[in-house]
Amino acid sequence: MGYLLGIDIGTSATKTILFDTETKKIKASASSEYPLYQPYIGWAEQDPDDWWRATVSSIQEVLKKGLIHPQDVLGIGLSGQMHGMVLLDKDGNVLRPAIIWCDQRTEEECKDITSIIGREKLISITANPALTNFTATKILWVKRHQPEIFERIHKVLLPKDFIRFKLTGEFASEVSDASGTQLLDVPNRTWSRYVLDKLDIPFDWMPKVYESHEVSGCVTEKVANLTGLNVGTPVVGGAGDQAAGAVGNGIVESGMVSSTIGTSGVVFAYTDKVSIDPKGRVHTFCHAMPDTWHVMGVTQGAGLSLQWFRNNFGSLEKELATFLKKDPYELMTEEAQKADAGCNGLIYLPYLMGERTPHLDPSAKGVFFGISAKHTRNDMIRSIMEGVAYSLRDCLEIIQDMGTEVDIIRASGGGARSSLWRQIQSDIFNRPLSTIDIGEGPALGVALLAGVGTGVYKDVPEACKAAINTKDTIYPIEYNTPIYDRYYEVYRSLYFALKDNYRAIADIEKDLKK
Ligand code: XUL
Repeated sequence: MGYLLGIDIGTSATKTILFDTETKKIKASASSEYPLYQPYIGWAEQDPDDWWRATVSSIQEVLKKGLIHPQDVLGIGLSGQMHGMVLLDKDGNVLRPAIIWCDQRTEEECKDITSIIGREKLISITANPALTNFTATKILWVKRHQPEIFERIHKVLLPKDFIRFKLTGEFASEVSDASGTQLLDVPNRTWSRYVLDKLDIPFDWMPKVYESHEVSGCVTEKVANLTGLNVGTPVVGGAGDQAAGAVGNGIVESGMVSSTIGTSGVVFAYTDKVSIDPKGRVHTFCHAMPDTWHVMGVTQGAGLSLQWFRNNFGSLEKELATFLKKDPYELMTEEAQKADAGCNGLIYLPYLMGERTPHLDPSAKGVFFGISAKHTRNDMIRSIMEGVAYSLRDCLEIIQDMGTEVDIIRASGGGARSSLWRQIQSDIFNRPLSTIDIGEGPALGVALLAGVGTGVYKDVPEACKAAINTKDTIYPIEYNTPIYDRYYEVYRSLYFALKDNYRAIADIEKDLKK
């Protein structure tokens, strides 16, 4: 017996956990934050060296808190925000800030990819249409706008794979995260030479791609000295944060679905075959287990919406929270609790960073619709929570329409910590919603993958059975569901009513940038 280390390179922080395989509990955890840079509206960048600093400090902290011998760490799993582009030169130096998942600057490059490859052919290989979020568009953007950087590229890595490179010296990725680059042949789980050639991206820029449980490298001596880890500790492939979170939630068999509110919001369903939405509104990616896939709908600005409100209008809650030694989000939830279901007609559209499911529109913008003099701050906060849940219902409905089995929905992510937000989701989905006993999501998921890769568990379902139990289940409130059904119809129609105005604003912004 021993410990498994899970590291998740999130958008706001890196979180590291130490999972005890004997007690099946988290022995220690630590997290370290970093900034997000938004030089223009719709742009989003981070410094990969910030991720590395946060990784090192969180590993040091868990080892110290856990009071364990480093040789008892059996393996390490890596998870991270998907789609981000890290460019390295031939000496392994970072060439520019990473353009991350929520960046929306690459509309032109999406059009280029679609016209070069053809929409149908692209979907048949990569299982998805061209989207601004995906890594391929970001590489083409650098080619067009920063040719002097493009010329010096030696490797292209995803965020967690950059951390793997720092930990092990290996250039490696794995199928679940690689699915979000738009350069992977998703049905065949390997880089697509065809797509790479067509887009003029050299094959040798891409790291070796593994299955998620496979060992991809070992901790180097330099890193062992820096972090306190044992030299040679194996690092498995790991998974993109969504597939990793799904493993950490036990979404590893048919009928299991998760609804996650992190910075983004995701409804994720397991599939045992490649199942594609012909309209491309949900993503189809490899799951973190051999021969399995998943479909997921993504709302760009889920937790991000509440965080935006807290950062810009929540100074009162922040001050009071410091005084009361509470989390500002707890106070915001208490305020939201005072508003009625449906917020007396105030409806929020969470499109602060454009939207993926169902609109695939990088120009979409956030909206508070229906504000009247009667509305209060309580309504505004609650309407944000409801708007995010409406957008997750959009995802769920498409997944169901594709014929995917939906038996159990598990709530996860930071948003699931709020019992109010869980209740709102259950009411808006009109379905029971369960939570599990270990709410560590992606970091736990990749710790379990490390357990599979190092022989602690036979396979991923066995690992999930050993580590995860349902904690509680909440049920829809009968009085609320018809109210939400009616407001949801209005919510759905608002995007279409505003679509042209979003475009007009995007055009003005583009002209002003010139
Ligand atoms: C998934 C996605 C986000 C990011 C950040 O497609 O874009 O989940 O991985 O969490």
